[in-house]
Amino acid sequence: MGKTIAIAKAKRIEELPPYLFAEIDRKKEEMRKRGVDIIDLGIGDPDLPTPSRVVEAMKKAIEDPSTHSYPSYRGMLEFREAVARWYRRRFDVDLDPSREVLTLIGSKEGIAHIPLAFVDPGDVALIPTPGYPVYRVATLFAGGVPYAMRLTKENKFLPDLSRIPPDLAQKAKLIFINYPNNPTGAVGGCEFFEKVVEFASEHNIIVCHDAAYTEVAYDGYRPLSFLEVEGAKEVGVEFHSLSKTYNMTGWRVGFAVGNEEVIEGLGKIKTNVDSGVFEAVQRAGVEALDCYDEEHSQILEIYQRRRDLMVEALREAGFELEKPLATFYLWIEVPRGYTSTEFTTLLLTKAGIVATPGNGFGEEGEGYVRMSLTISEERLREAARRLRGLKVR
Ligand SMILES: Cc1ncc(COP(=O)(O)O)c(C=O)c1O
Repeated sequence: MGKTIAIAKAKRIEELPPYLFAEIDRKKEEMRKRGVDIIDLGIGDPDLPTPSRVVEAMKKAIEDPSTHSYPSYRGMLEFREAVARWYRRRFDVDLDPSREVLTLIGSKEGIAHIPLAFVDPGDVALIPTPGYPVYRVATLFAGGVPYAMRLTKENKFLPDLSRIPPDLAQKAKLIFINYPNNPTGAVGGCEFFEKVVEFASEHNIIVCHDAAYTEVAYDGYRPLSFLEVEGAKEVGVEFHSLSKTYNMTGWRVGFAVGNEEVIEGLGKIKTNVDSGVFEAVQRAGVEALDCYDEEHSQILEIYQRRRDLMVEALREAGFELEKPLATFYLWIEVPRGYTSTEFTTLLLTKAGIVATPGNGFGEEGEGYVRMSLTISEERLREAARRLRGLKVR
């Protein structure tokens, strides 16, 4: 028998931050075993099913053997054309499907790979904190140096670009922004996007706008595409996803759109690491993009009711928070005297409620917890009842 070798992990793995949710996961499991009825508001995964016509389109596509081979690297032209149609309809933005659209295995895949195309070791990438953790880790994997842009309540959770030191801006290759924002629920807007374009042009920085939540918005608010702003296509790309818009997180399909050279660079990385998205999934994606108007408003009505119910309950329990205009997250300041982790533990042990500690999204998330609205109204009502009984304020 051979001798067991010593498995040494690569530094990029060893240097990853510790898994902040490990302790919460352990406690959650322990309580479940004891029979406690846990309400999980921790995950941002829609509970509602994918629209049935999208499922039907998939069934039909999977019966067609021509979908069974390796897909094209850039994505089927048919899918990229549907993306371009959708952008025109939804944002009044023109895209050339042959050069300005790239199919992704979910937007996470594109976000994770883009630094490999544009960041050399030692280059800076500007990332928001709190923020979706992939921006930072993907930068580190490429040997880049993440510079954290703080999102604070005072700044309406928008980065203050004027505070980025000029020498760092000079070294920066990428800037990640994300509006509507996970985890804060904040929204961007024309003025902010214009500032980003100006900043990026001045310092020669590629803008990566993560637009995963543009379709989850309430009270008649319609989030913008970054590409609606003049000059945006000259400086960047937008990452999109069918995941949150159509309850398709498990299907793994998204896309990047915008600057042709950036799309080309990202595509080059992808041809070397993956072989594209199953064509049956892309055909179902075409159906989803084309049936957008009918299916989508019903989904939003459900989230809006859930948002109203939970914000009301949290206010009654003594928390101060605004109703977010977009995303299915509530970003809640923890009561004075608690850290994010301590308060998450209290919620779990005293109310059986799982929330995500804000510090899991970066330093600036300390002092907050995030709750997702991705469970049924009935369960949210139960969560609301427990929160009212918590008396932490
Ligand atoms: C801000 C943000 N961007 C991107 C993603 C990735 O979504 P997907 O890979 O399913 O398209 C998520 C998922 O939670 C997210 O919250």
